[in-house]
Amino acid sequence: MRHFLSVEQFTNEEFMMLVRRASDFKHGRDRFKSDRTIVNMFYENSTRTKMSFEMAEHKIGMHQMNFDVTTSSVNKGESLYDSVLTMQAIGADVVVIRHPDPNYSDQLVNLDVQVVNAGSGTGQHPSQSLLDIMTIYEEFGDFTDLNVAIIGDIMYSRVAVSNMMMLNQLGANVIFAGPDQYFDKRYEKYGEWMSVDAAVKAADVVMMLRVQLERHPNGDKPFEKKDYHERFGLTRERFQTMKDHAIIMHPAPVNRDVEIADELIECKKSRIVSQMSNGVFARIAILEWVLKGRYDELNNHKW
Ligand code: CP
Repeated sequence: MRHFLSVEQFTNEEFMMLVRRASDFKHGRDRFKSDRTIVNMFYENSTRTKMSFEMAEHKIGMHQMNFDVTTSSVNKGESLYDSVLTMQAIGADVVVIRHPDPNYSDQLVNLDVQVVNAGSGTGQHPSQSLLDIMTIYEEFGDFTDLNVAIIGDIMYSRVAVSNMMMLNQLGANVIFAGPDQYFDKRYEKYGEWMSVDAAVKAADVVMMLRVQLERHPNGDKPFEKKDYHERFGLTRERFQTMKDHAIIMHPAPVNRDVEIADELIECKKSRIVSQMSNGVFARIAILEWVLKGRYDELNNHKW
């Protein structure tokens, strides 16, 4: 059974094939249609991921259902496994799941319904990574020796995890910066730690992260917003030190004037809105991959 769970399951060639398929769909070079049934199951809040999966599903003609966790039998103690088993039993072909447990999918991999990971706690966010890699590829066309600075709350960010793994695998130089206490030494093998000032100056891609207060133990909040912005944020002053060709990214939601100055979010160097748009096409590519398993067929395709 083909599930989309983690960037770790892909070789560079396979992941870049997904990027190119997403680009095909974006530029109208190809279409994919499916009359299969899909259920979106979001156990955590979402704006971009949920709505862009829904948009992708509409565009390709899938039969779409949304599982409302708040009014479901989850409130009567139904387990994730039993909810997904129920979706399978009533005829779902694919389930798109966001869940706070980093390992939630372990219990689902032997089911017949196909699982797409829309974010697993602090674990993985592979569809975000696909749209991020797509956005960087559109800009630079290559990852070899590209300096990508991931700045902010790295420890609690599943986006950071998926991106550091994939960028490192693709040959980029990953740079980490931000508060010391928001870094996990397990990630040292994927990149180099620098001060925020040095990271912003060195980067071709400045990827800012939100402080994930909802995941911090005991509501830990060691910084005031203004203090955080000045010490670790992309301020107007730091922005002036970026390379001419460098771009700004952020997975969003954004806390304006905390990790990034309000006026930079839609500035010329920012690709934050493009990331959101690319998310729809990245998710069509994921659904095609899950549903058609057509990589063997596409392997000889000239891009
Ligand atoms: N980037 C991202 O995952 O946003 P949402 O939490 O709004 O889906």
